Amino acid sequence: MQDKTHLVDEITGHRRMRRNRKADWTRRMVQENRVTSDDLIWPIFLVPGSGIVDPIPAMPGVNRMSIDKAVEAVKEAADLGIPAIATFPNIEMELRDETGSNSLVANNLINQATAAIKKAVPNIGIITDVALDPFTSHGHDGILSGGEIVNDQTVEQIVRAAVMQADAGADIIAPSEMMDGRIGAIRRGLDAAGHQSVGIMSYATKFSSGFYGPYREAISTGGLLKGDKNSYYINPANGTEALRDAALDVEEGADMMMVKPGLPYLDICWRIKEAFGLPTFAYQVSGEYTQIKAAAMNGWIDGDRVMMETLLCFKRAGCDGVLTYFAVEVAKKLARQA
Ligand code: PBG
Repeated sequence: MQDKTHLVDEITGHRRMRRNRKADWTRRMVQENRVTSDDLIWPIFLVPGSGIVDPIPAMPGVNRMSIDKAVEAVKEAADLGIPAIATFPNIEMELRDETGSNSLVANNLINQATAAIKKAVPNIGIITDVALDPFTSHGHDGILSGGEIVNDQTVEQIVRAAVMQADAGADIIAPSEMMDGRIGAIRRGLDAAGHQSVGIMSYATKFSSGFYGPYREAISTGGLLKGDKNSYYINPANGTEALRDAALDVEEGADMMMVKPGLPYLDICWRIKEAFGLPTFAYQVSGEYTQIKAAAMNGWIDGDRVMMETLLCFKRAGCDGVLTYFAVEVAKKLARQA
């Protein structure tokens, strides 16, 4: 009679995966991916005024900040080694209108914040979004005309907004409104204005997702939005279409790609990285953040552990970095472990 060990060896052919997992040192030695503070991009929410740190109920641990407070927070992020932030404004309702005209005001909230942060924290990258949703009275990302989000007119406006954002000091423009032709148009607009070194991170594949809910609370567009964004964002069912859309952005001159939301779309991250080889980022969006926080607050999952695991999974899926509301929390944790 063979003993049991022998029996398993016959099946495995002596190939035992657990040899490399047997101790902490072997596990560290064979680990393929790691998360460092360099992988983190921190999205922040801005409000007018000063001295304001206003918690967002649907995003426990995330605040809307006035510019002075944002400057302090960004300083801390830079000290923790976070390479870049992404800014989103929650502007006064009175300033929102049909066309999002405040996006074309040179010293609007987002541009003021850029200038202030650039001055106080010159060693952190500033990524700005040019979508119109924070500025429109209907919460759509573009200009609404006859029940339609009109593509070309929206592109014209966001190009002008992008140039103003670059004038204010933005390092990377990240257009999230999914209009056709926007990347090429923004590139030409930036170059014509002398902003050759300002980059474009394309929200190449932005899906029409339920995971954006808490963000819409954060910038107060949730109650405004009429209808949905299905006529411009990508259907979550479509991977091949997403790749075609991303290919156009590459042709038009995107410097970096982004996939959004993140975790439910890791297949898209992998396909985009494989197909184009550009730096590829995932946006772990508000709803993804909130899911983890809510479950952790109920004691149903170990929030810290799941936070780190999700970020590692982005790396494994080929991402070069992640836009995440956890950025500061993660960077602090990594600093403690170092
Ligand atoms: C829209 C925009 C969205 C997010 C950032 N910019 C989505 C939307 O409201 O349609 C979502 C970010 C998040 O959920 O964290 N331009």
